[in-house]
Amino acid sequence: MCGIVGYIGKKQAAPILLEGLKKLEYRGYDSAGIAVRSGDGEVRVVKTKGRLSVLEERTKGGTLLSGTCGIGHTRWATHGEPNEENAHPHKCTDGSVTVVHNGILENYRELREKLLASGYVFRSETDTEVIVNLIDYYRKKYGQGPVDAIARFMTRARGSYAVAVLFNEFPDEIFVARKDSPMIIGAGKGEMFVASDVPAILSHTRTVYYIDNLELARIRADGIRFYNIDRRETVKQPVTVDLDERAAEKDGYEHFMMKEICEQPRAVRDTLHAYVHGGKVEFPCPLPKDVTQLVITACGSAYHVGATLQYVIESLARLPVRVELASEFRYRDPILPKGTLVVAISQSGETADTLAAVREAKARGIRTLAIVNVLSSSIAREADDVLYTYAGPEIAVATTKAYSAQLMLGYLLAVELGRLRGTVSPEDVSRYLAALEEIPERISELLNESEEIQRFAAEHVNVHDVFMIGRGVDYTVCMEGSLKLKEISYVHTEAYAAGELKHGTISLIEDGTLVVGVITQGSVAEKTASNLEEVRSRGALVVTLGFDRMQEGAFFPIPRTLEPFAASLAVVPLQLFAYYLSVQRGLDVDKPRNLAKSVTVE
Ligand code: AGP
Repeated sequence: MCGIVGYIGKKQAAPILLEGLKKLEYRGYDSAGIAVRSGDGEVRVVKTKGRLSVLEERTKGGTLLSGTCGIGHTRWATHGEPNEENAHPHKCTDGSVTVVHNGILENYRELREKLLASGYVFRSETDTEVIVNLIDYYRKKYGQGPVDAIARFMTRARGSYAVAVLFNEFPDEIFVARKDSPMIIGAGKGEMFVASDVPAILSHTRTVYYIDNLELARIRADGIRFYNIDRRETVKQPVTVDLDERAAEKDGYEHFMMKEICEQPRAVRDTLHAYVHGGKVEFPCPLPKDVTQLVITACGSAYHVGATLQYVIESLARLPVRVELASEFRYRDPILPKGTLVVAISQSGETADTLAAVREAKARGIRTLAIVNVLSSSIAREADDVLYTYAGPEIAVATTKAYSAQLMLGYLLAVELGRLRGTVSPEDVSRYLAALEEIPERISELLNESEEIQRFAAEHVNVHDVFMIGRGVDYTVCMEGSLKLKEISYVHTEAYAAGELKHGTISLIEDGTLVVGVITQGSVAEKTASNLEEVRSRGALVVTLGFDRMQEGAFFPIPRTLEPFAASLAVVPLQLFAYYLSVQRGLDVDKPRNLAKSVTVE
């Protein structure tokens, strides 16, 4: 997704903008640009296609742009191909207003026609150029100043946006507004910062303001004023961000992804210990007693967590659980009977589809619980209740530690729901919590075996088709292993319920096709072993992950744990396999092509 930064203060803006954009690279982008207001009041824009290094080169590290106020942007293309013309910042036709934008203006075509008819000229294919011209149009038409013009834009706009705006006539201010796309404002001493996410400002300040949906603000070096869409001023208190700045650094690892894979024991342990005290699960929010079913909604890896938790929660709490892709849930007019609890899982807390699913449930009077990793993110703020995972900032696009922390939090939800419903006895609570306490150590053991996986990845560096099969949580962990391999090594991979393979897909098995079998669920172990024999007999190269070796061929042992929690361990070799394959293919592990860390547009 796009990244936005802004600075106003006493220092030169350009180097600060470039540094902030670098901290947002993990969000994914294909072009970048900065705009800096120089001493003579002119706003100079430099923008380039490709990596930030091109922009840094073009601006000589920012030294070619002098001025103490500016905005910057990394663009993940939605409207218009990645090129300099479409890169942000964009100016209005007469150059008096400059904008950077993260989001999608859904009604940009009709607005563009209206502006063309009013004499505006467009140089790019972007929806953002419509935004900057529309703001200029309202400023000139009503003459009520920037807050009024931006509020009118917000009233007219359909879609999502986080915008930072410079007006030539207001040289000492940056104006911002947001709807659905993330943005925070950092307050320093005599300087202010704007960013899409905390890592971009953490090295400057920990004092931040969260601008809420449909709010705007005017930012000066010495202060900030907030307004709602009706232009009424609102008062906000700053909060202190207590994130560890090192979390946004690699700390000696070659990639953020490997650092975060190795942080999983801590992330899982911190999440466990946040909610377990004295042998009891203690959530800060009461779980509704009359809950009749859970609907878990999420995207990507968070959806895979939900798929795993469906098995675990139904097994422990005997409560019906549905899992729905948020992008489907939000549009399919779901049936949500009274007593349904919608659980939204999201690392970023900003995924547009998941946020929309929360809103859809709330609009129907259904209670919502968010499981989120980013403090005060949109989903965290809009759900009725929120349970945070304690994975810390996750920078690599491919999630690992947040996924594992979400699983751990989900297990605790299963245990607590089971206790409340009487399906989990006090003795079982102790047994489950004891097993969960050991998970971090078991993950560490697997991380110590990573060389085995590295060798296996080297043997298969040219693999182009992989199948991952299992039953129950072995199947849902294959979903996650398959996504990891696809998203960072670009290898076509399919996760399949082992019992489903022979209903068609087995026709794709050829000599040498790599099939990964996950077998930790005792009740179906023999079944999956048979399915693996079926593919082996058709030429497949079979490798198995499990507690016990069940057949010939490559085998990676998984340390034993209680079966409902096995996904937390089986996923580790699959993460490592994807990581090493990506490295050995020379790919951009942390910032895979076409991907963004948080999909804040639909
Ligand atoms: C996971 O590796 C991917 N980056 C992606 O599937 C991600 O899980 C998905 O976009 C959901 O993101 P969220 O957890 O921030 O909502």
